[in-house]
Amino acid sequence: MKKPWAGRFREKTSKIVEHFTESISFDNRLWRYDIEGSIAHAKMLGKQGIITKEDSEEIIRGLKEIAREIETGRFRFKEDLEDIHMNIENALTKKIGPIGGKLHTARSRNDQVALDLRLYLRAETKEIISLIKKLQKTLLNTATKYLNTLMPGYTHMQRAQPVLLSHHLLAYVEMLQRDRERLEDTLKRINIIPLGSCALAGTTLPIDRGYVAKLLGFKGISENSIDAVSDRDFAIEFLSNAAILIMHLSRFAEELILWSTEEFRFIELPDAFTTGSSIMPQKKNPDVAELIRGKTGRVYGNLLSLLTTMKGLPLSYNRDLQEDKVPIFDTVDTVKSCLTVLNGMLPGIKFNTERMFETAGEGYSTATDIAEHLVRKGIPFRKAHEITGEIVLYCIKNRKQFRELSINEFKKFSPVITKDIYSYIEVEDSVKTKTSRGGTSPDAVKKQIRRLGSLIG
Ligand code: ARG
Repeated sequence: MKKPWAGRFREKTSKIVEHFTESISFDNRLWRYDIEGSIAHAKMLGKQGIITKEDSEEIIRGLKEIAREIETGRFRFKEDLEDIHMNIENALTKKIGPIGGKLHTARSRNDQVALDLRLYLRAETKEIISLIKKLQKTLLNTATKYLNTLMPGYTHMQRAQPVLLSHHLLAYVEMLQRDRERLEDTLKRINIIPLGSCALAGTTLPIDRGYVAKLLGFKGISENSIDAVSDRDFAIEFLSNAAILIMHLSRFAEELILWSTEEFRFIELPDAFTTGSSIMPQKKNPDVAELIRGKTGRVYGNLLSLLTTMKGLPLSYNRDLQEDKVPIFDTVDTVKSCLTVLNGMLPGIKFNTERMFETAGEGYSTATDIAEHLVRKGIPFRKAHEITGEIVLYCIKNRKQFRELSINEFKKFSPVITKDIYSYIEVEDSVKTKTSRGGTSPDAVKKQIRRLGSLIG
């Protein structure tokens, strides 16, 4: 195949080089955006009289035909045509003759690939945002269903204070909301058209960049052609948002793994979303959750990969930039599959609410409530903490629960303790009285559900 740069060359490109430099094996997935961008570009060339209306229409007709061929699997991508841009342009010229060669007027693959990537990331970001929204809704429904279910809240993986399961689940809805907002914010910077920057310097031809931007639905136009062909910060932002998002998913996955252990017995994962062992017949393994946790590594790696690729690049375009695609594609695929599988698994999870309730009360988890009782009697919190610590130690030594202490036993630790202490030491009371904004009381949680419900939309 003749290269578009053949005029300047006397030797044929080595096969080794062709294989080394190709990107068609992975950038073929940009075909839809490449053609969409080319059609808009051809329309503009025709409108501006840079090429004739007839040529423009002929080019667009050819491009649409190629799109149909790719869609129906009749198109053969060729490695010696290097990338998606040259594969499509070559097919166009084969189809409509030398007129096809007019499409690349006032354009370079440098602004073309930046355009394709922005169109791709714009579509995928929107897709990921809607998957996050779905997961938020599923979590919100689960929280509503288990609004009053008590469970132990943890710090340091030690039982800390009783909380509502709904409250715990809503914490993830909040994280996901910020993940969405970050992606939505990045969309603003993705949604800027680089086309018209050409190789790096712009063009002498009378192009209309605003027109192409409008055709492709871009909100802004890049203002510096050198910047537009050489930066990928919008993609790095995307990868960074995705890394934070999957970190959240991974933490949730980790909790599902823990909660489904015999040691916890808080949940049972649905059969359809677990796997068995090839040797141990009794096993039911949380592989799906483990893989979400495991895939986090590559999503972090993809961010580091592109940051590292970029760090030493002089302006403007360098071929190194071709290395942006694999990490971007991999992160898009990974994050989408993790969101989808988690969303599918969640509704089938059985919560062992009895076990959660039992464990919520163990380990003197209402000790802080006793300390706050003392605070209400005017004792400084530090002192109240110390007194309660002594009560806990006494209970441990005498194998007693708080409720088993008589009022006289309580009073030995502090004379200010009154009978109403008994209305603070049960887990239900403990939770009910956490009425502060954002706290774990059913009323506060109901407010959170309402707020998130309208936020999520
Ligand atoms: N396949 C290339 C990439 O992904 C397209 C741009 C190539 N431009 C060039 N001047 N070699 O970055």
